[in-house]
Amino acid sequence: MTQKKIITVFGATGAQGGGLVRAILNDPNSEFAVRAVTRDPKSDKAKALAEMGAEVVAADIDDPESLNRVLKGAYGAYFVTFFWDHFSPEKEKEEVKMMAAAAKEVGLKHAIWSTLEDVRKYIPLEDDRMPTLQEKYKVPHFDGKGEADQYFDGVPTTFLLASYYWENLIYFGMGPKKSEDGKYSITFPMGDKKWRASLQTISVSVLTEFLKKAIQ
Ligand SMILES: NC(=O)c1ccc[n+]([C@@H]2O[C@H](COP(=O)([O-])OP(=O)(O)OC[C@H]3O[C@@H](n4cnc5c(N)ncnc54)[C@H](OP(=O)(O)O)[C@@H]3O)[C@@H](O)[C@H]2O)c1
Repeated sequence: MTQKKIITVFGATGAQGGGLVRAILNDPNSEFAVRAVTRDPKSDKAKALAEMGAEVVAADIDDPESLNRVLKGAYGAYFVTFFWDHFSPEKEKEEVKMMAAAAKEVGLKHAIWSTLEDVRKYIPLEDDRMPTLQEKYKVPHFDGKGEADQYFDGVPTTFLLASYYWENLIYFGMGPKKSEDGKYSITFPMGDKKWRASLQTISVSVLTEFLKKAIQ
């Protein structure tokens, strides 16, 4: 029997990582096996992944030793950070630096880094059409990720940019709200301002299909 190539998936119990785990495990012809990363292998979500056939392992992206441990022997990895747990681009950058260093150290053949654009390349800090947040960012959860891309220099990497999940309309409190005239409209985060730009959106399930192709 040919040994399957291991893909270490961070955020495996979450939206992005969970989608990739299911996409690989639901494909009987997949050449890949899943090593699903969680902080708590005893959680119900982690147990469900194990039942599906994933190797469930414990790691914390803030613990570099654990990163090395779960990446060792893997062919590739899916890297994602968790901005909304702490709201700190500085922390995110530090985490990506450690992830990329671990990827280099174990010699990953393919990394996928779930990044976003550094908005400051298009709207510099001095441009007051957008407020500057946390003193040096325009969109903190984008800018920090984009700035951290450089850490993957020297690692074969696919940079995946998915700006907004449709699922936010359901699970992130961003769905249409009923106004006094009975009409529904999307008001968060723009209030009653007109949306000048179109918002690039993707469903997590469609994202998963991209990921499945990207991991090859
Ligand atoms: N919402 C959007 O529209 C959107 C669009 C593009 C990008 N993003 C970005 O996506 C990222 C979040 O990804 P997601 O939506 O897939 O997350 P998610 O659904 O919130 O899942 C995150 C999972 O990661 C694990 N986790 C959290 N902290 C961890 C840590 N320190 N070490 C290891 N694992 C940890 C948790 O698993 P355990 O509890 O099992 O450890 C959790 O189940 C954010 O950085 C956000 O900026 C969001």
